[in-house]
Amino acid sequence: MGAYRDAWERSITAPAEFWGEAADGISWYTKPSVILDESQAPFYKWFADGVMNTCFNAVDRHVDAGHGSRAALIYDSPVTGLKRQYSYAELLDEVSRFAGVLSSLGVVKGDRVVIYMPMIPEAVIAMLACARLGAIHSVVFGGFAAHELAMRIDDANPKAVVSASCGIEVARVIEYKPLLDAAIEEATHKPEACVIVQRPQAAAAMTPGRDHDWAEMMASATPAPCVPVAATDPLYILYTSGTTGRPKGVVRDNGGHAVALNWSMPNIYDTGAGEVFWAASDVGWVVGHSYIVYAPLLAGATTVLYEGKPVGTPDAGAFWRVISEYGVKTLFTAPTGFRAIKREDPEGQLIGDYDLSGFKYLFLAGERLDPETHTWASNQLGVPVVDHWWQTETGWPIAANLLGLEPMPIKAGSPTVPVPGFDVRIVTEAGDPAPAGTEGLILVKTPLPPGCMIGVWGDDQKFIDTYLSHSPGFYLTGDGGHFDEDGYLFVMGRVDDVINVAGHRLSTGEIEEIIASHPDVAECAVIGVADALKGQVPRGLAVLKAGVDRDHDAIAAELVQSVRDRIGAVASLRHVDIVAALPKTRSGKVLRKSMRAIADGVDMPVPSTIDNPAVLDALRPVLRPEG
Ligand code: COA
Ligand code: AMP
Repeated sequence: MGAYRDAWERSITAPAEFWGEAADGISWYTKPSVILDESQAPFYKWFADGVMNTCFNAVDRHVDAGHGSRAALIYDSPVTGLKRQYSYAELLDEVSRFAGVLSSLGVVKGDRVVIYMPMIPEAVIAMLACARLGAIHSVVFGGFAAHELAMRIDDANPKAVVSASCGIEVARVIEYKPLLDAAIEEATHKPEACVIVQRPQAAAAMTPGRDHDWAEMMASATPAPCVPVAATDPLYILYTSGTTGRPKGVVRDNGGHAVALNWSMPNIYDTGAGEVFWAASDVGWVVGHSYIVYAPLLAGATTVLYEGKPVGTPDAGAFWRVISEYGVKTLFTAPTGFRAIKREDPEGQLIGDYDLSGFKYLFLAGERLDPETHTWASNQLGVPVVDHWWQTETGWPIAANLLGLEPMPIKAGSPTVPVPGFDVRIVTEAGDPAPAGTEGLILVKTPLPPGCMIGVWGDDQKFIDTYLSHSPGFYLTGDGGHFDEDGYLFVMGRVDDVINVAGHRLSTGEIEEIIASHPDVAECAVIGVADALKGQVPRGLAVLKAGVDRDHDAIAAELVQSVRDRIGAVASLRHVDIVAALPKTRSGKVLRKSMRAIADGVDMPVPSTIDNPAVLDALRPVLRPEG
């Protein structure tokens, strides 16, 4: 471990020196002299006195350097049949004009703008336009229902919302505007303006005085220049599921984010200016923020925005078509997408139909990469398949195989080693350091490197309580795992109520709150159980109030529907079992872990603290009907 070990050690022992050098990759209006300000720890500030603009770094500077004709954004939409490329100069024109639109609606530095969009170029343009003005965007995943959007509107208090008339799920048109209208109706905070992209597949009804048509506004827009912001000013808020019913607003700064992502492109992804990088994710998730939008553009690379699925648009060869058509060097997606492809084309026959000679790397993240999928992808594609581990909170990988810095032998099941800047530790439940090979909680010593969350929007205490108070001086990742003797990290899964369903992060606690609010339900539990395609899916168990004599199937169907209505179809809750009782400890804690182990067929001793073992036994055939 030469170059990697040197870089990692320097990043930990001399972080200011290490990240100060990395900051040279970014253009500053005022170069930072204070690299790491620890005066308000645990609220560390990277590049405290630096002044810059993220949009300038992602777009303008490449045009200024004479690369305006280079492709910046490739939009490929099998669901509409549209394909369009934007050069850096064209992207600059669109972004600066949309910044002018937002400006004309009164949006200024520090204002929040909620973006609720399908995978269309206007989503990327809107994000960059916010960054240009120093406004703080909060992108809400298009698969979320009105209630989820309403909660985010009420937390972020946006001055404006940018949305579209619809999204397209394979062949189904999902109208967004009625969801947006319902969300604004439900929310206490009312945004002053909405800008709506009218797509030909559905026409949105507009509210006069509040709603504006994207195309009309753009036609008369005056381009707006970049607004200098402090490196420590927020760039965006991205809500993510935690253990409670309310999502947390993860806040990312401008300077640390730009420096870290810019560093990651050559060192982790070995991809740079003029090369094509494709993150097959969604702009509503962190992978979309970091690796569809910001990192490839900061690096001057070409990014692909794909409005389609790995299968069904039109077939399991879709990824190979995109790779060959645009000369993609690096693909980044979630293992679930590959499991879907493998299921439809197990022999990989469609791969042979395309020229993949320019394709060099496959990066996977978002959920545990099962060794079977790893082996299948490696064998079929003949390129390094790199598992890497990260979270919405960190914004970029905590552990990876750093292909540009020093590639390492791949071990299936491991995201390889901690990335420079991340001092990863494993501790036992009792808080003692766990030796190699021993499973424990994964912590990261603070300060976290640049690019990680700087707080929870509007709630400093929540940041401390959720992440920093478990072990003072350390960030609690919420994942469990271990190091092996060679220093490879293995991430085994969440130790809290977060589940990963088809690469979408959900909270079982939030689903429980919705089920529990049904008038017939006395109590309930939701657990994440293993699923061959989606990795995990939620399963619900509900106990009815005494005296409820309605049909159980009808109640179960209402519960499933209410979760779909309030969270969205992505929750993928297909089934709720109505049961007589839930297994609990003597102190009344529901034994979710034991139920999950039974459902997954994992051997786990029944805790000695169980109150009534017969209740758990009675659930065995329900949780695992196949025995
Ligand atoms: N807008 C509206 N609805 C959406 C949506 C969106 N953006 N995204 C998903 N949905 C809906 C789906 O249509 C589906 O609806 P249904 O229950 O009516 O069929 C439901 O939410 C569940 O979606 P999903 O869990 O994605 O399953 P799927 O069966 O539609 O597709 C995969 C399975 C594997 C193809 C798909 O999950 C996938 O591509 N996952 C990768 C996710 C990813 O990239 N994550 C980012 C991490 S890098
Ligand atoms: P998200 O915030 O949506 O990116 O989800 C983060 C969570 O996804 C992590 O806390 C992990 O539980 C899981 N995850 C992401 N990448 C990996 C990986 N490579 N291996 C195992 N789990 C992962």
